[in-house]
Amino acid sequence: MLLNEILDIKYPVILAPMFLVTNIEMVKSAIDAGATGALVAHNYRTPDELRKDIQILKKENKRPFGVNITLDFANEMNKENLEVCIEERVDFLITSLGDPGDVIKRCKPKEIKVFCDVVNEKHAAKVAGRGADAIIAVNNRAGGHAGALEKGEIIPLLTQKFEIPIISAGGVVTNQQFKEVMELGAAGVSVGSAFIATKESKVPIEYKDAVIQGSEDDVILTPRISGIPSTVINTAYIKSLGKSMSWMEKRLKKRKKTKRLVQKALNRTGLSKYQHKIVGPDYTKVYSAGPSISDVHEETTVRAVIERIVGVS
Ligand SMILES: Cc1cc2nc3c(=O)[nH]c(=O)nc-3n(C[C@H](O)[C@H](O)[C@H](O)COP(=O)(O)O)c2cc1C
Repeated sequence: MLLNEILDIKYPVILAPMFLVTNIEMVKSAIDAGATGALVAHNYRTPDELRKDIQILKKENKRPFGVNITLDFANEMNKENLEVCIEERVDFLITSLGDPGDVIKRCKPKEIKVFCDVVNEKHAAKVAGRGADAIIAVNNRAGGHAGALEKGEIIPLLTQKFEIPIISAGGVVTNQQFKEVMELGAAGVSVGSAFIATKESKVPIEYKDAVIQGSEDDVILTPRISGIPSTVINTAYIKSLGKSMSWMEKRLKKRKKTKRLVQKALNRTGLSKYQHKIVGPDYTKVYSAGPSISDVHEETTVRAVIERIVGVS
């Protein structure tokens, strides 16, 4: 079953969840254009702020949309955010990094669909066993926490093994790339990097320019941002972070209290230029994006990106 049939929308395209990038305006435009989108729960400071945006989308758009919940330990508001999604009856959740078992158990009775990010067959078997409604196969061209397998490996592997739909994530900007993954058997695509430099996106102009001017050669996988290797544009700031986390950084990162104290002390003593060594990166200077930025050449609208991908423009 194709993604557009599962959700009753026009095009099998999800505007993917992107930390600090995906916003309500982008999701609104994706819905208006006949696709769908997923808000990112951890982009909101409180569960109530997330609730507010869900309510706005429900009221104004009346078309399906989702929310992404990242299930790792770092995300302390997961439980409350999940409650908000269930109470407000979002149409689907996208889970990443962790066991979606509890989320699926809570969502099934409420008819909220759960799509789970996976990077290999083992993860896929786990989420399928838990009752996921679809698998998002994250390939080695994806922005964010990329997988290791090529689209040509992971899509056929998972479509042969599992009955549920396989949505492909990674490396789709053009209609040709979209057609390739659909021909491999994907039920749809989840697209991130192609939307960073859109008019609806509120990231700084420097970030958009880096995406427009950059190519896949400028994108590196680094563990320095979240602790798990993720793709970023290799700017001077990223180079200054070095390639791996220091021993002290790893220890302090685990403890929220120490992290705050250290940050305060650094600010007081004017040592903030060392802050990333101790408390982690300055997110205003981190331009996360995947290698598919090679095919992004201008700032445009969310609708134009979707129409180019599905081949109607
Ligand atoms: C800037 C950026 C931030 C991302 N943040 C998240 C996130 O918060 N949660 C998540 O599940 N995936 C995240 N991803 C992965 C996307 O949801 C999606 O899988 C990926 O962008 C697909 O590859 P593409 O960028 O080549 O389209 C992020 C990707 C990018 C580029």
